[in-house]
Formats: sequence, C-alpha cells, structure tokens
Amino acid sequence: MKKVTQNQYGDTSVLKIIDCDKPRLTSKRQVLVKVQYSSLNAIDWKNRKGLFRIFSGWFSPRSQPGFDIVGSIVDKSDDVNDLEIGDKILSLLGTLKGGAFSQYVIINAGYAIKIDPSADETIFAGLPMAASTAWMALVSLGKIKQGDKVLINGGSSGVGHYAVQIAKYYGAEVTAVTSGKNEAFCRELGADNTVNYQNEKFTEKAEQYNIIFDVVSNSSFHAIKPILAPNGIYIDTNMSLSLIKDLLIHKQVKFVSVHPDRKVLQEIVQMAETGKLKTHIAKVYPINDVIEAHKEMEQSRTVGKIIMKIDW
Ligand SMILES: NC(=O)c1ccc[n+]([C@@H]2O[C@H](COP(=O)([O-])OP(=O)(O)OC[C@H]3O[C@@H](n4cnc5c(N)ncnc54)[C@H](OP(=O)(O)O)[C@@H]3O)[C@@H](O)[C@H]2O)c1
Repeated sequence: MKKVTQNQYGDTSVLKIIDCDKPRLTSKRQVLVKVQYSSLNAIDWKNRKGLFRIFSGWFSPRSQPGFDIVGSIVDKSDDVNDLEIGDKILSLLGTLKGGAFSQYVIINAGYAIKIDPSADETIFAGLPMAASTAWMALVSLGKIKQGDKVLINGGSSGVGHYAVQIAKYYGAEVTAVTSGKNEAFCRELGADNTVNYQNEKFTEKAEQYNIIFDVVSNSSFHAIKPILAPNGIYIDTNMSLSLIKDLLIHKQVKFVSVHPDRKVLQEIVQMAETGKLKTHIAKVYPINDVIEAHKEMEQSRTVGKIIMKIDW
C-alpha cells in the first residue's frame, strides 16, 4: 500500500509517498480502515517544520502526516461487535501519532464513529480535528451557554468556522474577528457581529465577552483581559512561554489540547448529519498533490477546510 511519510523536519520536500506493507490487526478492539478522505490542519505544516519537536521528537518526528480519517472498515478484531466490515466511519488520530494520509490505517474501535453511508464523505472529512478543537474549547472548557457573548478570533479558519457554528448552536451571541474579505462568510456561518482586523483591533472593543476563543493567538492575555467579562474564559490554541505563565497566574486562561474523544466525535457527527455543522470546503486535493496542499495551507489564508482525497 501507499502512504505519505515524513522522517525529518523541514520544507515540503520532506514529505514522501512510499510503498509499504498493509498494517495488520495486532490486538483487541482494533479495526482496519481503508481511508477515503482526510483533511489538512495547520498542525500538519507546523509539525512538518518541527514547531512541536519538544513533544513530537527533537531530532525526527514521531508524528506522521494527517490526523483526520473518513473511510470504510475492511477488517476488525474478533471482539469488535459494535462495528461491521463495510461500515463507513470517521475518526481522529492522536497528535503524537498521525498517519492518516495512508491507504489503510488501524484504529481503536472506540474512536471509530459510524457515519451515514449515503452521505457525501467530503462533508465529514474536515471535522475530526478542527471541529473537535472548537467543541472542546467552547463546550468542555468554556462551558458555553445560551446568551453568552462569544468572540472568535479567526472566524474563517478551519477551527474558527466550526466554532462560529457551534457557538450559535448553543445560543450564544457570536462576534467573529476576520479580514474584510471574509466578513460576509462569517455572517453566513451565523456570526452576529464581525470585526475586520484590518480596520480595528478586537482588543479595543468596548464590549466584554464571556468566552474569547483565540484561533490566531496574536495578542497577549494582558491586552485581551479588558474585553473579558469578570468571570469570562479566554481559550488559546497555541502554546507559548507567555501562555504558560498566564495559565499559571490567571484561572480565566485555558489552553485547548485536541485529542480523540468518542463523545465529542459523536456530537459533531450528529450535528453534521442534522445540518447544524457545515464544512466549507476550500479545495479538494488528490493525495498525490499533498505538497501543493501543504504549501497552500501554510499561507494561513484557507477559508474553511482543505480536503485530501486518498485516491490511490
Ligand atoms: N491546541 C490545539 O489542540 C489545536 C488544534 C487545532 C488547531 N490548533 C491551532 O489553531 C490554529 C488554527 O488552525 P486552523 O487549521 O483552523 O488554521 P487555518 O485554517 O490555516 O487558518 C487560516 C485562517 O485564519 C485566518 N486568519 C489569519 N490571520 C488572521 C488574523 N490575524 N485574524 C483573524 N483571522 C486570521 C485566515 O483568514 P484571513 O485571510 O481573512 O486572515 C484564514 O481563514 C492554528 O494555530 C493551529 O495550530 C490548535
């Protein structure tokens, strides 16, 4: 079978398409999945460049390209009774593992969530990492509730465009920070207000917010604190030394760390299947064009999600 690998950190030339053996089931509660679609996340190019090497291996990456999986089960361990061969599933691989850009992958059956077999798979392919991040930030950490004022810095991004929709689903009043060209997009997603970062700084708004979800991480907590309600929560997506300091000092500061969570994956699949969570597809790339896709993603201009078709 074929897969995309990365054995060193660097530019896109470190991404290699190789032939290798098909993986085999090795323990209980495993399923073998023929991958049909995946997506690109900012974490993919950051990991490729070694920006997470403190976690993912200093000299060479433990984590392999691709984290999102949509595909069909082609084999399963004897003790897997809740899934059948032929089932279509969605899953998320751990950030220290990855490896979704592969013809076949083995996953723990507990993280394989059945999806509607008649639905277009591309609508699910962008969800696992980006929508889990948004859900974990707003629901698990932010404890979002009806009527909350929520600001999302980076409303047009992969994570941000799901966050706008999840916040609206929970009955919040949503403000999306975005460039002028993406204001209409954020309003179509449901944002009540937009802030064009090219014209004004969101940190200088007169409003206060119950939740500020920062998908861009371009302001200090010191700058953000005046627009955070007294019991409000600020949730960041990017780890830094200043964030570590703020996490230790301010209980209003949180860091979201996405990971496979069955309940969260079920929630987002249900929202997608009932039309409450839509994926804006920026572009679908065949997996052989993974280098071009990485180059586009690294520009940080993607609106919604870049979908990868694993069409080997
Ligand atoms: N901690 C975790 O568990 C976790 C999980 C997933 C992702 N992340 C992090 O979350 C971030 C977002 O990831 P992603 O995959 O969603 O990124 P992405 O899709 O590549 O983000 C691109 C988008 O960001 C917008 N953007 C760029 N600069 C902006 C600014 N100054 N203000 C507002 N919007 C801006 C761009 O719109 P414009 O062209 O309009 O600027 C574009 O739509 C990344 O930093 C990633 O590393 C963290």
